[in-house]
Amino acid sequence: MLKKTLLSTIVVSTLLSAGSLFTPLPQDSKYDKAEAALGKQLYMDTRLSGDGTVACVNCHELSMGSGVDGLPTSTGIRGQKGPVNAPTVYNARFNFVQFWDGRAASLQDQAAGPVENPLEMGAKFPEVIKRLKEDENYVKLFQELYHDDITKEHITHAIAEFEKALVTPNSKFDQFLRGDQNALNDMEKKGFKLFNDKGCAACHNGINLGSNLYQKAGIFEKFPETDNFTGRYALTKDEKDKYFVKVPTLRNIARTAPYFHHGKTPDLKTAVMQMGYYQLGITITLEEADAIVAFLKTLNGEVPEIAK
Ligand code: HEC
Ligand code: HEC
Repeated sequence: MLKKTLLSTIVVSTLLSAGSLFTPLPQDSKYDKAEAALGKQLYMDTRLSGDGTVACVNCHELSMGSGVDGLPTSTGIRGQKGPVNAPTVYNARFNFVQFWDGRAASLQDQAAGPVENPLEMGAKFPEVIKRLKEDENYVKLFQELYHDDITKEHITHAIAEFEKALVTPNSKFDQFLRGDQNALNDMEKKGFKLFNDKGCAACHNGINLGSNLYQKAGIFEKFPETDNFTGRYALTKDEKDKYFVKVPTLRNIARTAPYFHHGKTPDLKTAVMQMGYYQLGITITLEEADAIVAFLKTLNGEVPEIAK
């Protein structure tokens, strides 16, 4: 019962401040245009992988506005399967840390990870840099923008600058937050009310409706697929971090199936009902889940020009 009390405390304090719980995405995301253009080239470039077959975009597509690969877990070089579902790159600039376990503090730190991860791009920076230096276009661009040779630091900096442009503004929900009461229909408003009343907003709030705190996966029941996935514990070895993960963003969530770190939940309605069961210790009815899903669909934003 301690858990229930703790959670209702979160829920109550959440509701008290419900007015300021959510923030719309900026309509004009700030980033350096020239650096982002270089970052986009690198993001699309398979030369950043060990065998020249995989680029960032393979696992984080852009044009459909999802920022994911739509797979339960990603496929890296030589068809290797990774252990977890790929989170979206869209709006990642607003995450308080990167990765499920928060092991990267910034987008730039994060970008070095996949390049050298043996299951993902399986390269080493010295070889990547050597390859890029064979391309006069890159040599020229790095000189122009960084007044320097091609380095790991500049590569990851440019990629991070590109990711700063990956923001999806003007969702129906953002229009609603900015004061347009008609931006949501009755069903969507009902879903938003349920989202607050049931306690979802205790963990999914802020500008990204998530990604601003760590929480335990499986507060009321043991979360599926956590035998080999212990969240932050793997990083800190601290018992109290067991199964704690960065709460995922819900922006564009209707575009990023399948769900959860395991990627084994195929549809949003099931995911919503599972959240009720594992995180809140309640049963969400089919009808309630339909309304919450209708609300979650209003979080789909516009795909920025640079990503088309
Ligand atoms: C083989 C597939 C794959 C490739 C290639 C890949 N990623 Fe990822 N990406 C993932 C997976 C899986 C995760 C989650 C890993 C984890 O949390 O342990 C992830 C996490 C991320 C995150 C963190 C998002 C969040 O909410 O925590 C960002 C940002 C990101 N990737 C950007 C990139 C960039 C930039 C590149 C290219 C340099 C790249 N990825 C290449 C699969 C991939
Ligand atoms: C106590 C915190 C908490 C509460 C309350 C909570 N969630 Fe979550 N939510 C999480 C965490 C943690 C995850 C990631 C779990 C994992 O995959 O290991 C998550 C994941 C999700 C996902 C999947 C995201 C993805 O990218 O795969 C959806 C959808 C979701 N939550 C919706 C909801 C809804 C709707 C509610 C209310 C019914 C809710 N959540 C209540 C913490 C919470």
